[in-house]
Amino acid sequence: MDDQALVDAARAVRANAYAPYSGYRVGAAIRTKDGRVFLGVNMENSAYPTCLCAEVNALGSAVAAGAKELDAIAVATDPPDGRSPGAPCGNCRQALSEFGLDLRVLLAGPTGTAVEHMLRDLLPHAFNAEDL
Ligand code: THU
Repeated sequence: MDDQALVDAARAVRANAYAPYSGYRVGAAIRTKDGRVFLGVNMENSAYPTCLCAEVNALGSAVAAGAKELDAIAVATDPPDGRSPGAPCGNCRQALSEFGLDLRVLLAGPTGTAVEHMLRDLLPHAFNAEDL
């Protein structure tokens, strides 16, 4: 699956987001270095702190399948007018960083070209196991 297909997968799965409280739907698709793809959506809860982000849900699926060598994550959102597509929150950046900062992060709106960042640029001075 190439980058465009990964973005399309994130956009498609976004329809399944469970976001009755915020109305803010997020779809995520992670591609591993061996080419497997894992999907996630945000999953909200009436007890608000229980909400889970799309990126972490996709990451959990990857790890459950034994996949920890990650190549890219596409994140699909529908930003308000004039805003760029949403980037992973700080908690998601930290969770993803556990498996390497050399992760390509593709940020996509409902249409158009995704914007690419490296996770190491989104999470400078990352805390990691060497800090323990
Ligand atoms: N959300 C994500 O899924 N990923 C992020 O990186 C930021 C926020 C979700 C959580 C909540 O369901 C909604 O977006 C609004 O914060």
